[in-house]
Amino acid sequence: MPLLACILPVLTFLCQPVLGAVETCVGNQAQRFFGFLTDWADGLFGDRPNAAEEVPESASEVVGAEDTLSVIRSYLNDDSVGIIGIYGMGGVGKTTILQRINNEFFESGKQGSFDLVIWVTVSQTVDIPAIQKQIAERLGLSLSCSNTEEDARVLFKALSDKRFLVLLDDIWRAIDMQVEIGIPRPKGRRRNSKIVFTTRLSQVCDEMEAKSIPVKPLDEVASWELFSSKLRTQEVCTNPTIRLLAEQVAHKCGGLPLALVTVAKAMANRKLSRDWEDAVDALDHRPERLDDQVLRCLKFSFDYLKNDNMRSALLFCSMFPEDAQISREKLVDYWVGEGLVDDENDGGEGSMNDARGAGQALINKLLDACLLESSWSSLIGPTVKMHDAVRDMVLWINRHEYNKVDGFLAWDSIIRREDRKHIKRIRLLRKHIKRFNPDVILSCSSNRTLMLSSVRGLRPPILQGIASSMKSTLRILDLFYSDIRGELPAEVGLMAELRFLDLSFTRIASLPKELGNLVKLRQLGLVDTKFLVQIPQEAIAGLRSLQVLNMTESGYDWEADPRGGEDGGRQLKLGDLEAAGLPRLEELGVQLDTPRALERFLKSDKLCSRTRSLRVKMRHRSQSEDPPLYGEGGSLLWRVFSRMGRSLKTLFLYGDDAHPWEGGLRISLDQLPLLEFLRLDSFRSERMPEVVLVGSNFTPRSSSNIVRLSSFVMDNCDGQKGLKLVGAFPCLRNIVLGNCSTMEELALDDGVAAGIAEEGTQDDAGLLDCHLPMLSDILLYKLPSLKSIGRRPLRLPELRYIKVDRCPELRRIPLDAAGMPKLERIRARREWWDTVECAGSGGHNTKPIFEKRFIEL
Ligand SMILES: *[C@@H]1O[C@H](CO)[C@@H](O)[C@H](O)[C@H]1NC(C)=O
Ligand SMILES: *[C@@H]1O[C@H](CO)[C@@H](O)[C@H](O)[C@H]1NC(C)=O
Ligand SMILES: *[C@@H]1O[C@H](CO)[C@@H](O)[C@H](O)[C@H]1NC(C)=O
Repeated sequence: MPLLACILPVLTFLCQPVLGAVETCVGNQAQRFFGFLTDWADGLFGDRPNAAEEVPESASEVVGAEDTLSVIRSYLNDDSVGIIGIYGMGGVGKTTILQRINNEFFESGKQGSFDLVIWVTVSQTVDIPAIQKQIAERLGLSLSCSNTEEDARVLFKALSDKRFLVLLDDIWRAIDMQVEIGIPRPKGRRRNSKIVFTTRLSQVCDEMEAKSIPVKPLDEVASWELFSSKLRTQEVCTNPTIRLLAEQVAHKCGGLPLALVTVAKAMANRKLSRDWEDAVDALDHRPERLDDQVLRCLKFSFDYLKNDNMRSALLFCSMFPEDAQISREKLVDYWVGEGLVDDENDGGEGSMNDARGAGQALINKLLDACLLESSWSSLIGPTVKMHDAVRDMVLWINRHEYNKVDGFLAWDSIIRREDRKHIKRIRLLRKHIKRFNPDVILSCSSNRTLMLSSVRGLRPPILQGIASSMKSTLRILDLFYSDIRGELPAEVGLMAELRFLDLSFTRIASLPKELGNLVKLRQLGLVDTKFLVQIPQEAIAGLRSLQVLNMTESGYDWEADPRGGEDGGRQLKLGDLEAAGLPRLEELGVQLDTPRALERFLKSDKLCSRTRSLRVKMRHRSQSEDPPLYGEGGSLLWRVFSRMGRSLKTLFLYGDDAHPWEGGLRISLDQLPLLEFLRLDSFRSERMPEVVLVGSNFTPRSSSNIVRLSSFVMDNCDGQKGLKLVGAFPCLRNIVLGNCSTMEELALDDGVAAGIAEEGTQDDAGLLDCHLPMLSDILLYKLPSLKSIGRRPLRLPELRYIKVDRCPELRRIPLDAAGMPKLERIRARREWWDTVECAGSGGHNTKPIFEKRFIEL
């Protein structure tokens, strides 16, 4: 029963009590995957490559837009039409229609009409390089990014011989597609190509000589249908008074789907006619200067959010740029820092784990209110986005009602100087550094959050000024990737309210002992602080509220000279992390660089159970007289697995050159059930024949043996001949194998091959059953000996991208269109692609099918 064997691990996985974020993301994936399987089982899949890449559709469904869609479809088949412009008010559903078009191509995999369907998000300030970059990515090209004209020529050339469909969302001015961006005009011999865009302004359609299609608001009947479908109360049907009032409310949404949905969500559970009367009033009451109907309705939904924390949390999101994908995890960490999720109930005394759970629940409520949208990024995992109309509404509130809400100043918000005293949050970004002026910050009495990630020019006096002037109120200070260096000013220790301090990816060399005064600090980020050499014990050891300390990839030496730093104070030791001074520490990220440190660490139950990320790497190039990093026979590594396996989420292991590993390295992920990211680097040993990763059983009996690994990287290794994956990896998304000079085989099907003989899990088409249901990217580079990546094609339902570079011995790859329906891009050098053999199930040549998806490196 191949289907079941495939789904079971995913479903079992879902049932486990994991953090909301993980659950949601995998849940959605699993649903899509399930859908895929059903389609496949119904025999709907054939040898159809996919011209389009799926885009997530927003929550507001396409209602009453069927007519518009069919007009667009007919234009797409009409040789006399080249450019199509969809125009209408914000919130009327233009983007949803465009998404629908894109995804129709994606779902049908329709090949006949276009070679390539490219989705481009434009946004209000037209950013030509950003548009070019999105197109280049789909074409698999890299651009200079410094000269847009040159880049336009490159794109023009690449698109010239293709039948393309470019979909541009949200254009605010006429753009000359060919001259400014490099998209050839769809005319003459290119009449099979099309450009479709959306805009709020009908004159943009005229100026671009586009066939224009208006998207009109819904009529009364359709409006009511959509509105009432979102209500969860019977009263609208049973109580005629309420029904009447509800119809008035729906009417006031002006037929705009986004307005109808958000207002209906806000009113979903209201049972009293009083509530509905208030709603009619509120929608009639037009705040000064807010005459845009959709904004007015969105503001209504905003006002109807349950409490100030929810409103404040939503405002927080609008500090990120338009169309930004905001990491759910990071967002929640900020909210925790501000005290938006748990301060109210327990004065910030709760566990980080609970606070994160509450934060994810808050995100879900905002998603449910349709004020945020859910999305996914392959780089940062689960994310959220804000509809541009919602963002407009929030920015309006920020401009006009900052005295009622938590006002903020982001690079693009305009607030009069004299009003700046109301500002509670500031966020600046690197690209605005030319305008960076510390006086702006100091002139605001920003009293909660100051985000200066990536900001250049933060000289110590500036930081001292900020710390002194905001000392009694600031809760979040984010200096991630900024250019502070050397000593961190002692004044930072004055900020007694600070809960969140991120100094990751900076060049700080020492922390002041005054840092220890931050007794409310809950999260401290010191990731990748390569220059950090001095941490006085007092700086950390007394942080009695500290819950998260992340020093992964820090240069700090745990065994530094015991005489301590320049001022003679004692330096922080591993032992200090388990002492009573840090009673709330829950999550730890560390780098350990000697066997002694590793042993010291493994002795402590407290440290082992709190470690979420660990990197093991020799500090200096090791000498043969040094003891082996992983202990005799690797004994310390086995102890890492047995002692910390149940808490680790991230693990980086580096080889020890003076003591090469003996024998195969077999990592059973059963022992590391929470591990999401695993990297093996610089294992160089002639006596290490292979690396084996063992995943879950195919038919798990209990939920305990589900493996969460999502990313695996093996780099710079030497001596091994094989990398094998045995068993099922229900969450694995990326495999990266690079610069391993002796590697001959990557066996993704090892366990499957063994399983087949006994259980007959091979299906009729000859495809091996999927045990990698989420695998989406395979990257192979600099593998001079690699000969094989498996014997038969696997079913990899989510596989989208394969990159092969400098693997001259790889002469044959198993590729099957039915087993890999989403494979969009194969990037490699032309010489290699021209000679490689592609074998489908049953060994037939599948090269012609995949030819179109090849992209030259
Ligand atoms: C700053 O914070 C304090 C307390 O948290 C609050 O009372 C005060 O009004 C805030 N000031 C501004 C300008 O927001
Ligand atoms: C520490 O930071 C790294 C890199 O950003 C991240 O992968 C890891 O999850 C973090 N660990 C903890 C304990 O927060
Ligand atoms: C590739 O690996 C070798 C050893 O296996 C190492 O010496 C070299 O630095 C690596 N090259 C890169 C580009 O990482």
